[in-house]
Order: sequence, then structure tokens, then C-alpha cells
Amino acid sequence: MRIAVAGATGNIGALTVAALERGGHEVVRISRFLGVDLLTGEGLDDALTGVEAVVDATNSTSPDRAEAVAFFGTATANLLGAEQRAGVGHHVLLSIVGIDGVEGNAHYAGKREQERLVAAGPVPWTIVPATQFHDFAEMVAGWAEQDGVAPIAPLLVQPIAPADVATILAEVATGAPQGRHVDVAGPATQDLVDMARRTHQARGRAVTLVPTWSAVFGPAMAGNVLLPGADARLAPTTFEEWLAEQR
Ligand SMILES: NC(=O)c1ccc[n+]([C@@H]2O[C@H](COP(=O)([O-])OP(=O)(O)OC[C@H]3O[C@@H](n4cnc5c(N)ncnc54)[C@H](OP(=O)(O)O)[C@@H]3O)[C@@H](O)[C@H]2O)c1
Repeated sequence: MRIAVAGATGNIGALTVAALERGGHEVVRISRFLGVDLLTGEGLDDALTGVEAVVDATNSTSPDRAEAVAFFGTATANLLGAEQRAGVGHHVLLSIVGIDGVEGNAHYAGKREQERLVAAGPVPWTIVPATQFHDFAEMVAGWAEQDGVAPIAPLLVQPIAPADVATILAEVATGAPQGRHVDVAGPATQDLVDMARRTHQARGRAVTLVPTWSAVFGPAMAGNVLLPGADARLAPTTFEEWLAEQR
């Protein structure tokens, strides 16, 4: 199949390109660096010529709610419009488990807008909600780190390996549209502070972690809100196996 990956230079996008190519598929890579901008539409119609399915693994890191909603809203609308013109038969969106249960997070507001447009849009779709990735704790600690000290919330998560997410996206993109996919998650629950500490250890970095609910993710994400549903598909790679690869 000829399949486009939007966000092809990113963490999950690059792994999804690799997974599709391993499966013998022809992949069209989409990102601004590669000359295609989802916000302006530059290069998009040409990129989607002959494409049968699109995986959207783009990202905005804006902490501003209006900016995040505008990014995901505009990029998704442009992508879906171009897919309709090109006759693409399947749009696959990588989303996040639990976003409907968390108010006050800019990124989640943007992802809800993205899901809304996909579900109401003209192209048959599959939305794949994933839990936090194994590198999430390190990323979150990194946002807040100053002079070797990082405040971080003790969130309960069930993280998944980025490569496992990519494998699932490749499998979904080469099959029929499913609507809302079950949650995808890793095999075990983890505490975000402990994950960050072990990741820093594996990388030989000395960072003092300060557990607090005043960090970037507050009480709105406490409890089980980020955990996958009971019918979730659990991917095999443990956090410990992923950590061993980072050393
Ligand atoms: N981190 C987590 O734990 C987690 C968990 C579940 C789901 N997710 C979701 O996973 C998705 C992918 O995350 P990620 O960490 O893999 O992303 P990432 O590494 O930040 O990569 C983002 C990609 O989007 C591209 N991009 C950004 N703006 C663009 C534009 N205007 N036009 C075209 N391409 C654009 C970037 O390429 P250029 O810069 O070259 O444009 C890059 O390839 C996100 O939507 C996120 O919500 C994340």
C-alpha cells in the first residue's frame, strides 16, 4: 500500500515509517522539514497523490490552550480536506487515553478538537488512543528542570514503548477503518516520579526530583484518569526493557 505518515520526522512518526517499510509498504513522509506544512497546506496535495491511508502523528507542544486548539484544528482540517480531494480511504489518528476526563490541559484541548474533526470528517477513520510513552517521565521532568532540580507530579500511568505504538499504527493503517480503537497501553502501571528517577539513572544524569501536585500536571490528572480501559490492548515491551535499551 501507499501510506502517508504526517509527523514523519517525529518520535512516533519516524518509528511508524520504519514499521510500514518493514512491512513492504511505500511510505510518503510529511513534515515541514520535508517541505509539507499542514498549517498552510504547502505541498500537501502533491504529497497525497495515490495515497490510500494517512497516519497522523503530528504534534504541537504549545502550553497555550488557544494555540494548541488552533494548531490541531487547522492542521487536521487541512489534512482531511486534502485527503478527500485525493480519495484517501482511511485516516488514522494517534490520540491520548483519558483526554475527555481532564480539563485545563492545553494539549488535551487540542487533541479533543482533533478527534472531533476526524470523527465528523469526510474520510473513514480510526482513532487510536494511547497512554503516555515510556519516555514521557523524562520529557516532563525536562520541561521543569532548573539547576538540576525538577518538580514532577506523582501521576499513575501505564506507559507504552514508542516502537509498540508505531507497530500498532502500522497494523491499523493497513487494515479497514475501525472508528474508535480500544485504548492501547503498556503492560504495567508506573509512578511518574519513579519512572523519571530510573530514566535519569539509566542515562547517568543527576537530577533531584521533587514530587508535587503543583507541577505541570496537577490534581486534574491524579487517580486513575490516565489509565487505560479494562478492554485495552496491552503492548508487550515493559518499561524495564525499554530502559535497558537506553543505557
Ligand atoms: N508523549 C506521549 O506520551 C503521548 C502519548 C499519547 C499520544 N501522544 C501523541 O502522539 C503524537 C505524536 O507525538 P510525538 O512525540 O511523536 O511528536 P514529535 O516527536 O513532537 O513530532 C511531531 C511531528 O510533527 C511534525 N509537525 C509539526 N508541525 C507540523 C506542521 N505544521 N506541518 C507538518 N508537520 C508538522 C514535526 O515535523 P516538522 O517539525 O519537520 O514539521 C514532527 O515530525 C502527538 O499528537 C501526541 O499528542 C503522545
